[in-house]
Amino acid sequence: MAGDLKFPENFLWGTATSPTQVEGHVINEWTDYVAADGGHCRVACDHYHRYEEDVGWMSRLGVNAYRMGIEWSRLQSAPFAPLNQTELARYIHLLDCLKAANITPMVVLHHFSNPPWVTSSGGWLNPETIPAFVDYTTKLVSALKERVYLWNTFNEPDTYASLTYLLGGFPPFHKWHFASYRKVIKHMAEAHAQAGRVIRRGGGFGGKTLEVGIAKNWTSFGAFQAFALWDHLLAEISHHAFNRFVLEEFLGGARREASTFLGVNYYGRARLNHFRALVPTNGVSHERLKQLGVVCDDMFERHPTGFGKILKKFHARYGLPIYITEHGAASTDEDFRIRDLTAHLLELHAAINHGVDVRGFFYWSLLDNFEWQFGYTKKFGLLSVDFSDANLPRKMTRVGDFYRSVCKGLKPSSEVAGRE
Ligand code: FCB
Repeated sequence: MAGDLKFPENFLWGTATSPTQVEGHVINEWTDYVAADGGHCRVACDHYHRYEEDVGWMSRLGVNAYRMGIEWSRLQSAPFAPLNQTELARYIHLLDCLKAANITPMVVLHHFSNPPWVTSSGGWLNPETIPAFVDYTTKLVSALKERVYLWNTFNEPDTYASLTYLLGGFPPFHKWHFASYRKVIKHMAEAHAQAGRVIRRGGGFGGKTLEVGIAKNWTSFGAFQAFALWDHLLAEISHHAFNRFVLEEFLGGARREASTFLGVNYYGRARLNHFRALVPTNGVSHERLKQLGVVCDDMFERHPTGFGKILKKFHARYGLPIYITEHGAASTDEDFRIRDLTAHLLELHAAINHGVDVRGFFYWSLLDNFEWQFGYTKKFGLLSVDFSDANLPRKMTRVGDFYRSVCKGLKPSSEVAGRE
């Protein structure tokens, strides 16, 4: 079956990063944060200074799209302030380098970070953050509306709100503040609706109209043991809080009109065993997971068939075009990562054949980078980065070589997919 998978013409084959994770030199709530491995984001991959080189690597990979963030804290020093022209010019230069390389940008407005003045005034708990974000969007869209047509307002609002106010993993590290979790989601959903209107009014260029959507992280929750009613109950509660409630706020009823597409970040599933999710990010050892037969990368349980299922479900429920805004695997075992990617691309292909309107796929990530709580230990890059060398040299991985063949049209073979 090698070589006979056809993806739609004009399909975007891309890769993704976020400012705090790759740029370095950011002043936001992550600047003083020290991750589990002792690492911090202060230099990260120094993409801030090395974006031209990184666009060169993207060309070598053969991608035709790049999902990148623009760091709000660089552009506005106070609510409603004019955009910082020096920082804006740097992003414009990056966008122009991408254009020269025939790479379509998708810009993310919020990816787990805020300007310090937002944080100090209560962050997303404060309703005043909504007009401030809409003002930022208005100014940025007006500055870039001839360069960027794909706009992603919020990356994984569910992950952000839960790690900040339920699980204590992201600054400001609160635990079990359910009311705060709900408030953050509601404020972000309102900000998305208002920013979405601004973006759609932005018109278009070169035959493209401006598009806007969120990126929803999709994790399915279940019980590891069929008889464990308590785990089924917790799975149901988690599904309600992280999936149903969030989707309803952002896409339910009239809110659906705020988006022209739905971004989906898909990494896998979480199965609960005596109230504990069987995933490496929860501290469960690889040995234990292996014993239990749970297949994971260094972060999550892999579940390719769930990918196809959720795409069909989203298509049936919302009827919006879909971009896979993130998928990837973290491991130093490159064969594992290639098998994992292949299995997911086969699911993606089958969903498209089934009629799901998927317009692009962005591999997470272009570079090994600063993985929030875990620092530099999670290897997601199509390019590896040697963080022990002050020059931060990039190097093509075999996963990168494989992805290049995918982008070129040499499609993954089911023989190597290792399907479940
Ligand atoms: C997603 C985040 C992204 C990265 C990947 C591994 O939840 O959006 O920044 O951390 O997970």
